[in-house]
Amino acid sequence: MPRISQRTIDHVKEKASIVDAMEGVELTRMGREYVTHCPWHEDRKPSLSISPQKNFAYCHVCQHGVDALGWLQDRGLTFQEAIERIASRHNIQIEHENDENSERFKEEQKQRHLLYVKREQQEKLFADQLFANRDACVYLKERGISKATAEAWGLGFTGDRLMVPLRDVQGRTVAFTGRALAGQMPKYKNSPSDLLYDKSRLIFGLDHAAESIRKSREVVITEGQFDVIKLHQEGLTNVVACSGTALSHDQINSLVRRCGAKVVTLCFDGDAAGEKAAYKALEKLREMVLSETITLRILSMPAGEDPDSVTQEKGVDVMKEMIASAPNWVKWWLGRELGKVNLEDIESVQVAERGVKRILSVLPVGGQRAYVERRAAEILGQAPKVRPAAPVVTKQERDARKWVERRAVRCYLLLPQSRDSLRGMTFEVPPYYLAWNLILYLEASVEPGLVSAVFGSAIRSLPEDEFHELRSLLSPVPEVLSHIRNNAEREISDTVESIERLSRKTPTAGATP
Ligand code: UTP
Ligand code: MN
Repeated sequence: MPRISQRTIDHVKEKASIVDAMEGVELTRMGREYVTHCPWHEDRKPSLSISPQKNFAYCHVCQHGVDALGWLQDRGLTFQEAIERIASRHNIQIEHENDENSERFKEEQKQRHLLYVKREQQEKLFADQLFANRDACVYLKERGISKATAEAWGLGFTGDRLMVPLRDVQGRTVAFTGRALAGQMPKYKNSPSDLLYDKSRLIFGLDHAAESIRKSREVVITEGQFDVIKLHQEGLTNVVACSGTALSHDQINSLVRRCGAKVVTLCFDGDAAGEKAAYKALEKLREMVLSETITLRILSMPAGEDPDSVTQEKGVDVMKEMIASAPNWVKWWLGRELGKVNLEDIESVQVAERGVKRILSVLPVGGQRAYVERRAAEILGQAPKVRPAAPVVTKQERDARKWVERRAVRCYLLLPQSRDSLRGMTFEVPPYYLAWNLILYLEASVEPGLVSAVFGSAIRSLPEDEFHELRSLLSPVPEVLSHIRNNAEREISDTVESIERLSRKTPTAGATP
């Protein structure tokens, strides 16, 4: 992807509005400003002020501030995506630095546009055939899918298949999946991947579910499209499906970083394939779970059932109850390992012990580990001895380190008088670690007065995101710059103090929570 031109970036920055960017966050008006809870520290009273005049959000407690672009990036968008989002909102044409690349990019945009139009036409064509076909209507009726639901999800029919549009998070149809109406094989047929459709990225139903996930902070992930459609119809609106593929990092990122899901309930069919998928997903999500970024629950459906069939046969309240009482991942896993143990049979006990060992080997010291040891001791007589996993840095600790390092680099660059007191600091977070090494190198090779200026041009060769992040430290928005200049002494002493506090708390990267 070619680099977006400075002209476009400037244009976007000029139009970007912090209040627009914070869409979906509950803001309370206070005079000419708004306040809300600060997302960067444990905030009991709302400390984040949002000023439409300054077009900036600033936390008085942790002293972190962002503009609209910074806010979007903090929510998980890349710099490029943040620019694109604001540009599209204000109808700004995106230009690229390299003209030839820009031509290629424009050509690709044109292709994409044509594809979107084509998919829209296909969807309409299929939908028109749906209500004209008796078999398809009977099929939907038998599955308990109403006309309104069929319309809301754009269902259609062609050949021998019920067509389900696969839509991106913005609700644009990018592909279709066709469900055989009468036992033909394969049961589901997907469109091939193309410029619009990447099956490992698409999350089925996210266009319908995103708002509900943002509000409830919870997401339910099922295996099939019809599970999603049925549950939404019955009022459970935070449900999506990864549909036929293993849960990918990209999908997890969309749900957690972009929609802010904190509680993830994986809903797997009660068969061998479902169990395998659950273990795979567990492995992918483990780090997020252990760092307390998300809470993970796993719901194994009864054998032969899926969320759609349970809802159809027993009603949505039964399904809701099952979701609400889904066990935490550790409990679920332990249940699998200990559930079938026969204490009279030594081999079965050994199998269970090995299973418990596998669980213990991924758990650091803490409450969950203690729980597993206690339960294993109750059932097997004693818990197997396994060395604890290395402690995982929690999100809160990681964020704290990130902000301190960020602030230290900014302080160094903007307030040369701070340099002596900062020199002993160690950096771990990638862009700041990089910045710091560059600074040390420049200190040794150029005059002190030139360090910041040479730094500014040296970072131009970095990848786009890192370049913009470091440049924003060197030339922050005017509000931050004047705040730092006017409170220089305070800024330096606070920075030094927070560095000291951090090194006391986390002597190495992984202190126990
Ligand atoms: P299932 O076989 O569990 O089907 O596949 P289902 O969702 O319950 O479908 P219904 O209720 O019988 O209609 C789960 C998901 O795996 C994908 C589909 O996305 C399906 O929703 N799949 C399944 C395929 O891609 N191809 C297949 O042949 C089967
Ligand atoms: Mn089903």
